[in-house]
Amino acid sequence: MPYVTESNITDIVLDRWRAVPDPRLRTIMQSMIRHLHEFVRDIEPSEHEWTTAIEWLTRTGQLSTDKRQEFILASDVVGVSMLVDCINHRLPGGATPTTVTGPFHIQDSPNLDHGGDIAHGASGERCFIVGSVRDLQGRPIPGATLDIWQADADGLYEAQRGCAGPWMRGVFKSRQDGSFIVQTLLPVPYPIPLDGSVGELMRRTDISPMRPSHVHFLISAPGHREVITHLFKKSCPYIETDVVYGVKAPLIAEFRLFPAGSPTPTGQISRQPFWLLEYDFVLQPAAKADSAESSSEASLSEENSTV
Ligand code: BEZ
Ligand code: FE
Repeated sequence: MPYVTESNITDIVLDRWRAVPDPRLRTIMQSMIRHLHEFVRDIEPSEHEWTTAIEWLTRTGQLSTDKRQEFILASDVVGVSMLVDCINHRLPGGATPTTVTGPFHIQDSPNLDHGGDIAHGASGERCFIVGSVRDLQGRPIPGATLDIWQADADGLYEAQRGCAGPWMRGVFKSRQDGSFIVQTLLPVPYPIPLDGSVGELMRRTDISPMRPSHVHFLISAPGHREVITHLFKKSCPYIETDVVYGVKAPLIAEFRLFPAGSPTPTGQISRQPFWLLEYDFVLQPAAKADSAESSSEASLSEENSTV
């Protein structure tokens, strides 16, 4: 067995890491070592640069708790979270595409009635989201659960506000015809949290830290594959530069502005202007999802009172 040199060290390390009984872990570790060595050969870091990188990773880990996940944020801004999402959700054409969950989802949001308001008490521009949940054949899915969360008009989620909550979140059920109506606020663009190690890195770039205006959805129905996704506001200036690369074409939707005095989707006459977003979600059956996941041939989806 030769002693290490710059040219043989990768092979020696790979040979040592053959001794991993779990074949999947062996594949992962060997690939990681190969790519990491290639990366180091490519950039030829000084020892100071390597220590700086280790210190940055250390700070990233130290900032990560059950309330804040700086490592996920790091994975988001280099597009790895969305690459993992794309690999794991090769949906058939027509199914609503997925995106990253993001760090701000809170379990056990309150159940709200059809037409309920997740913004109760929050100020901002009123908005209705109206649509349906359907299967790949266009048939309505009754009783689907829509868990919805969003930033407020200041671009802040409940966890960032630190309020008692619930704040800008709620759970709805689709009706017999698959329909749902949600009242909320017009979403606004906001920057990702920049007060940690990821922000430190982003400030050394000219990359926009903004997420385009969006609303988050987690949609589930018995017999169907769960979908975690966002809807994005079409005219948002950040739509093409989402810092976490979460925008997929079918998720860009038009928000239309209606003047005061217009009838709302809940059948009232609104005293104030309001926005309306109409969107139909399409879920694939759970069994189909399983076979699509295991098949490399799966086709890709890319493609009247007064209030
Ligand atoms: C979000 O949309 O809530 C989000 C997603 C990824 C990183 C930061 C925020
Ligand atoms: Fe968000």
